[in-house]
Amino acid sequence: MATEKLFSLRVFLPCFMLVTCCVHPPLSQGAPAADTVSRDRPLSGGQRLVSQGGKFVVGLFQPDDTAPDRWYLAIWYNKLSKHTPVWIANRARPIPNPDSSKLTISQDGNMVLLDGLQSPIWATNITSNAPNSTVGLILNTGNFVLAPSSNTTNFLWQSFDEPTNVWLPRAKLGRSRVTGEPTRIVSWNSSVDPSPGYYTLEMDPDGTNQFIHKWNNSEIYWETGEWTGSMFAGMPEMASYPKALLHYEFVVNDQESYFTYQINETMMTAMFMMEVSGQVKGVAWTESVQDWVPFFAVPKAQCSVYFVCGSFSMCTENTFTFCSCLRGFSKQYEGNLLYGNPRGGCTRNARLECGGANSSGNSETDGFYALAIADLPEKAWSVVAASPDGCKQACLNNCSCVAYYFYGDNCSLWYGDLINLVSPDASSGYTIFVRLAPSEFFSGSAKKGKPLTTWSLTGAAILFVAVTVIVGVLLIPKRQIFSKQNKIEGSLVVFSFRYLRSVTRNFRERLGKGSFGSVYKGMLPDGTLIAVKKLDGISQGEKQFRAEVSTIGTVQHVNLIRLLGFCSEQSTRMLVYEYMPNGSLDRNIFGSTPVELRWNVRFQIALGVAKGLAYLHEECRSRIIHCDIKPENVLLDASFMPKIADFGLAKLVGRDFSRVLTTMRGTIGYLAPEWISGTAITAKADVFSYGMMLFEIMSGRRNSAWRQQGVETFFPVLVATRLHEGNIQGLFDSELMRDADLQEGERACKVACWCVQDDEDTRPEMGEVVQILEGLLEINLPPIPSYLQVLAESAESSLQMRNHIRSTLDAS
Ligand SMILES: *[C@@H]1O[C@H](CO)[C@@H](O)[C@H](O)[C@H]1NC(C)=O
Ligand SMILES: *[C@@H]1O[C@H](CO)[C@@H](O)[C@H](O)[C@H]1NC(C)=O
Ligand SMILES: *[C@@H]1O[C@H](CO)[C@@H](O)[C@H](O)[C@H]1NC(C)=O
Ligand SMILES: *[C@@H]1O[C@H](CO)[C@@H](O)[C@H](O)[C@H]1NC(C)=O
Repeated sequence: MATEKLFSLRVFLPCFMLVTCCVHPPLSQGAPAADTVSRDRPLSGGQRLVSQGGKFVVGLFQPDDTAPDRWYLAIWYNKLSKHTPVWIANRARPIPNPDSSKLTISQDGNMVLLDGLQSPIWATNITSNAPNSTVGLILNTGNFVLAPSSNTTNFLWQSFDEPTNVWLPRAKLGRSRVTGEPTRIVSWNSSVDPSPGYYTLEMDPDGTNQFIHKWNNSEIYWETGEWTGSMFAGMPEMASYPKALLHYEFVVNDQESYFTYQINETMMTAMFMMEVSGQVKGVAWTESVQDWVPFFAVPKAQCSVYFVCGSFSMCTENTFTFCSCLRGFSKQYEGNLLYGNPRGGCTRNARLECGGANSSGNSETDGFYALAIADLPEKAWSVVAASPDGCKQACLNNCSCVAYYFYGDNCSLWYGDLINLVSPDASSGYTIFVRLAPSEFFSGSAKKGKPLTTWSLTGAAILFVAVTVIVGVLLIPKRQIFSKQNKIEGSLVVFSFRYLRSVTRNFRERLGKGSFGSVYKGMLPDGTLIAVKKLDGISQGEKQFRAEVSTIGTVQHVNLIRLLGFCSEQSTRMLVYEYMPNGSLDRNIFGSTPVELRWNVRFQIALGVAKGLAYLHEECRSRIIHCDIKPENVLLDASFMPKIADFGLAKLVGRDFSRVLTTMRGTIGYLAPEWISGTAITAKADVFSYGMMLFEIMSGRRNSAWRQQGVETFFPVLVATRLHEGNIQGLFDSELMRDADLQEGERACKVACWCVQDDEDTRPEMGEVVQILEGLLEINLPPIPSYLQVLAESAESSLQMRNHIRSTLDAS
């Protein structure tokens, strides 16, 4: 009889356990690992040092499984599920065997890494007054220091002074005012090779107070602008960084000038690093995706990094592998991409003929094709020419000329390698002509002795394409396209792009556009309707994509939309779902012609969504946080049974997660406060969004639509207040709620208020929400959530949150 104090008595597990318990193995329960290395206690093989506080580890690791004889002494994060080295001692000199190598203190007091032959691979190399007895100590800041054992705060050497590619919070990045020598961070050579790459960030060695990005220690491709006292001149966005989260300072004294920053570590784990591809990124560890998510990048555009794609290669922004070889060229190096490395670009498939048109009649002449680019490459040579043909001839006359551009009476020629080519956007750009060997144009069938001009070549190409298309359309029977067998992989069908294009009639009917891409209607040959989602900007490779998708494929529940299959070809990624005839919930409850859904239908929808979410959070093996619960992501089948869409996609999108958050700006009303505060996202963020949606299902109006009218009428606050006044009947006077079952209505009101509490521990689990809605669990009166009041009170607050999210998370 007595109502149980459900929420005050229940002990809630910390919610991130949901996600991490399965991914991250528990630490071994042996004796606590030491944090010091000394002459008596060297480090070898699989031994580790762990900082007091447990945040960082020192040990030997291997970045590339396929190269078993390359080991490195490194510092990495102890507790993250992704191995993230932040410092490496011997980055250019791997050791072949960890068991015969050791880290120890040498006779002269230096810390030294010895290989199997006892010869030093790496050493701290301090020469002045090496003390009698020193130790190496890993601190909880990620700083590895050498200090006298009698006083370990007197650092004789520290890894913070010799960073590799990562710049940790509290480390100084600057320049000595005595020697002028800067500390710099240097990219890895490739994603599996930590040896120094071509990109560096350092303070300007010429003495100005700005940071510069350089390629090969020569070409400067980005500058921060000088320090103005509160920001760098070229980075005005620094003024909007939330001070509570990120604190930075620029210090100039007699000894040194440096920049340093601190992160509020109770709120997030974050750091800056020089990417393999030459951008410096600020990244924050994000529990919900178990990965680092960028919140900052300089230069903002990947393609403004000097030489990033190497020679004869095109850089295209916002694509997965942003480099692609020009027509007539191929990648000269297979394996991991070597950004900025001269070995990483593309080379000619066929050698140039080199004979000008005036040379002997027997040899064919090199041809040119038109290439659209955003900007003309540097280092052009100007020659005098009166016409495009004259310009072309000038290029042909020099064997090392590779491209020309003609405009007005300006003829520009490029010699050697073409570099820094960037795809144009639709509105602007230039067209240059790139030289290729004759064989690239004729492929064997050319008529000898008659050199073709660029124009006739283009004409021939167009004709060829046209004929192929016509022949294709006329001769290939339709049946053949449809009967093309799609493969089966696990529970999923692997569709070919061609097949999906044909069943969607070339993506003719768009059903909607969500955070991850557009959805199109399709019909299989047997009449089954499907929904095909074309994913935008997937950053994952083929293998990882397939792994994620097959996980999603195993998640099946009546209240979750069913994944039937997928397509993954080149850069195209598509997901194929069952088709839902009644569309999304938002169209049904607040579209331009909302359907009058009776109370019992709406209540069943609320209950069904709760069950689907409970399954995602608590029962399915992979434990998925949805991250974007809103009416647009609830679909209704023919009998108005709700099915949740887009689950598992947050993980799939991986590193591009910040982009998803940015697209969520429009639906900010569903985001839990922890999205804004920057703390780890748990399943309770979904509970919050569900609560906000439940209010809308009850009222039939967007919560945001009430906001303009102030606190009294903002529906969620109204419900909370009425519950306290004991006057919830009043709520059910409106036309929409008139047919409501009062008991169900009260339960729904209470549970919605509990779901949107500020403190995530106070919110119920989804499984409990189901039981409460079903009347199986009693429930107390909820407090009025203060976050909601703020939301209601100022229309400005939502604006502030948007700005805040944008400034902290908008990486590009
Ligand atoms: C050690 O330092 C000395 C003097 O600073 C320098 O000449 C020498 O090259 C350094 N050795 C190593 C291995 O870095
Ligand atoms: C070095 O330490 C040993 C033992 O701690 C001590 O006996 C010796 O006198 C010290 N030598 C110097 C030069 O300080
Ligand atoms: C230890 O070294 C620090 C830094 O050099 C110094 O400030 C401190 O006084 C030393 N402590 C002792 C006990 O010598
Ligand atoms: C990179 O710099 C080094 C040293 O300055 C130079 O020898 C080398 O030619 C440069 N590489 C390229 C591809 O320009």
